[in-house]
Amino acid sequence: TPRCKKCLQGKTHMHTHRLTNYEYFNAVLINEVDEEGNNVELGGEFILQPNDHFNNLSVNLSLSVVQVPTNMYNKDSAIVNGVYWSEALNRVFVDNFERDPSLIWQYFGSAKGFFRQYPGIKWTPDEHGVIAFDCRNRKWYIQAATSPKDVVILVDVSGSMKGLRLTIARQTVSSILDTLGDDDFFNIIAYNEELHYVEPCLNETLVQADLTNKDHFREHLDKLFAKGIGMLDVALTEAFELLSNFNQTGRGSGCSQAIMLVTDGAVETYDDVFAKYNWPERKVRIFPYLIGRESAFADNLKWMACANKGYFTQISTLADVQENVMEYLHVLSRPKVIDQEHDIVWTEAYIDSTLEDNQGPVLMTTVAMPVFSTKNETRNRGILLGVVGTDVPVSELLKTIPKWKLGIHGYAFAITNNGYILTHPDLRPLVITAVHCCVGMGAAAWLGSERV
Ligand SMILES: *[C@@H]1O[C@H](CO)[C@@H](O)[C@H](O)[C@H]1NC(C)=O
Ligand SMILES: *[C@@H]1O[C@H](CO)[C@@H](O)[C@H](O)[C@H]1NC(C)=O
Ligand SMILES: *[C@@H]1O[C@H](CO)[C@@H](O)[C@H](O)[C@H]1NC(C)=O
Ligand SMILES: *[C@@H]1O[C@H](CO)[C@@H](O)[C@H](O)[C@H]1NC(C)=O
Ligand SMILES: *[C@@H]1O[C@H](CO)[C@@H](O)[C@H](O)[C@H]1NC(C)=O
Repeated sequence: TPRCKKCLQGKTHMHTHRLTNYEYFNAVLINEVDEEGNNVELGGEFILQPNDHFNNLSVNLSLSVVQVPTNMYNKDSAIVNGVYWSEALNRVFVDNFERDPSLIWQYFGSAKGFFRQYPGIKWTPDEHGVIAFDCRNRKWYIQAATSPKDVVILVDVSGSMKGLRLTIARQTVSSILDTLGDDDFFNIIAYNEELHYVEPCLNETLVQADLTNKDHFREHLDKLFAKGIGMLDVALTEAFELLSNFNQTGRGSGCSQAIMLVTDGAVETYDDVFAKYNWPERKVRIFPYLIGRESAFADNLKWMACANKGYFTQISTLADVQENVMEYLHVLSRPKVIDQEHDIVWTEAYIDSTLEDNQGPVLMTTVAMPVFSTKNETRNRGILLGVVGTDVPVSELLKTIPKWKLGIHGYAFAITNNGYILTHPDLRPLVITAVHCCVGMGAAAWLGSERV
């Protein structure tokens, strides 16, 4: 069923109180000591014990740990504030586990970027000292946090985008792709005097934002180069027609539609294009990303965002890309918040490489639900706080199937709303390292590639 409703506008930022000297158990820093043998800040002694239910991994069953992506400051006041109030989840996690000992990982992924996981476990960075995991890029998070959407990404490849700007623009597009999931549809058009669908074989349509398609389009981004002048009116016209035609095919999300505009400026506001295609209903939201430090043309882009229920963002450096791109998710999740739609989502089956039983790796699915602020003063502004989730072994789902009803030759299978297999007698874990898309192998290939 379409999950989208009317939308309101409003600011999404909440005031945070400064918490000084508040310490929490950081998943990476726990039990780490400095040269003098003292616990490092945000570390501290954290008792871990091997646990049979968690495949003999060492865990702490009374506390959760908090992970913050390496590229974020782990004492940022917004993060520390969120970590502080979400401490109350420890009790909930423990209670849940006591009531249902079949539960495995329980977690909360915050819209600010931190990830609280129960039971507590130590995380180890990769060989470069990096933990790239950002809960907000995970499928369960995206699926639960946003309504399904059709998105056209317009990238300016006119001459002024040469050099660093084009690099930032590519990264911005790539980060936008990270925020799209199986419920979403997209295409990418580069424009100067002409329109260039980055994948010419898939022009004039939108494709599902599954992993294979996103990776395929990402490869084409490297082929973009900047020259000529940017004809934004032509590009916007194409995007509106594309979205409208696609909606009429009935194949799309049937929900929100958006145009992401990645450019270093707009010389006018293109009212005539918006008047023709988008006003007064403003069904298509516009999210302009201004690339570079200059803000000479910022006002036009700001106005476009405002007049089309979107959100304006300036991205000056490569380091800014990810956080700034994420901002639009607040705007697109707002309709769900306002309607207090607490949809539960299930991901397709995947292999959890940290857990296995005596038959080898186990198939898992994640069930997740968005979390909204219910404070009176923020309620109608629609603030998404994050997403809660838990991993469920597929074998637990199988236990609920009434086998006696199926008869001797009967068997049960389940597929998700996106057509991925959740369970089937012939679905067996296969770890495939190089993923090639071949018909019929789709589900198995996915399993190998999805999960860290
Ligand atoms: C979890 O770690 C805390 C802090 O080290 C410790 O006080 C607590 O006893 C541990 N819980 C368990 C169940 O080991
Ligand atoms: C965990 O370790 C115990 C004792 O070493 C062993 O008996 C048990 O089979 C192990 N469980 C798993 C799931 O590996
Ligand atoms: C899309 O592809 C078709 C067939 O290759 C071509 O005729 C058409 O001009 C293309 N349209 C655009 C906008 O690139
Ligand atoms: C898409 O089509 C449906 C049904 O025709 C319509 O209700 C909806 O408003 C359209 N959505 C957009 C964003 O145009
Ligand atoms: C919040 O709003 C509800 C319903 O509008 C009202 O009953 C309640 O008293 C309000 N609470 C506060 C603290 O203002």
